[in-house]
Amino acid sequence: MTKTYKIAAIPADGIGIEVIAAGVEVLNALAEKTGTFRFQFDHFDWGSDYYKTHGVMMPADGREQIRYHDAIYFGAVGAPDVPDHITLWGLRLAICQPFDQYANVRPTRILPGITSPLRHVSGPELDWVIVRENSEGEYAGVGGRVHQGHPNEVATDVSMMTRSGVERIIRYAFRLAQSRPRKLLTVVTKSNAQRHAMVMWDEIAAEVAQDFPDVTWDKMLVDAMTMRMVIKPETLDTIVATNLHADILSDLAAALAGSLGIAPTANINPERAFPSMFEPIHGSAFDIAGKGIANPVATFWTACQMLEHLGEKPAADRLMRAVERVTADPNLHTPDLGGKATTRQVTDAVIAAIRGDNE
Ligand code: IPM
Ligand code: MG
Repeated sequence: MTKTYKIAAIPADGIGIEVIAAGVEVLNALAEKTGTFRFQFDHFDWGSDYYKTHGVMMPADGREQIRYHDAIYFGAVGAPDVPDHITLWGLRLAICQPFDQYANVRPTRILPGITSPLRHVSGPELDWVIVRENSEGEYAGVGGRVHQGHPNEVATDVSMMTRSGVERIIRYAFRLAQSRPRKLLTVVTKSNAQRHAMVMWDEIAAEVAQDFPDVTWDKMLVDAMTMRMVIKPETLDTIVATNLHADILSDLAAALAGSLGIAPTANINPERAFPSMFEPIHGSAFDIAGKGIANPVATFWTACQMLEHLGEKPAADRLMRAVERVTADPNLHTPDLGGKATTRQVTDAVIAAIRGDNE
């Protein structure tokens, strides 16, 4: 019997609309080729335009509407004329946090045909997965502002870490590291300067490590980590870091892999109590929105993560093969990669590669 996966598609803002449309086409072509499952996409028009009409980024019962979908396929949020903290907290974090998508997983590789800005790196030396804590830490939303606009104004953003929150993300990262061939984990920290929560983070890492004797792990201060990523990328494999540290490191990772237009991300609720959410890392990129030149590769790659989460690993591998066949051809590079191809051309080429895939 053909399985049907119910996917909530939320393209939201800017190029999110173009890349999710491309992703839906590619996923439908993949389902057709595979023949064992199909997708039912439900489209939600939430985002900054919705906000301009309704004063909120999504309806009050928005989460209820997507609560029982198998996954969420998300574009990007952010608009030049709406403050970023409104778009972010009103939609993306309003889904991630209540749905307890605490593991944010960001694979980075240099795909065929793509050149890294690192001159000593050709490909295999850079193959990482960054695991980002996605529910607390610097993004906990704890803080406040008093005496606004006065000379005695005070503002705080408190990074809040809980033992259970740290333990579950570190455990997730060890498990992921264990599942990868090198079984290698780097725990990123800043416990030299941040002497409370980050010290607890280190202690918990050492405790959890005892349950994974076959995983080799080390600890790295976040500042030194940026250097290691550039100078010795081959010494890294799985990486776990706090919400903000991993946010920064993952942009660096994406740049080192050739373009932010390629980098995917999965917001996972590992217990599957809620749907998980899959999105490209790049933002809404209003400067190129509507021009048909957005790179859809990140949105395709995150679809692979979605398929894996749904238990469709062979289909995920087939899609990744198709994407890699397309990136290998410089004529099919979008402008972020220095090429001239359009979203349409890349999408058509990936669909053709799926159809022609006989592995
Ligand atoms: C990311 C993004 C977001 C973040 C922005 C859009 C707020 O940079 O997913 O990495 O910081 O989490
Ligand atoms: Mg970021």
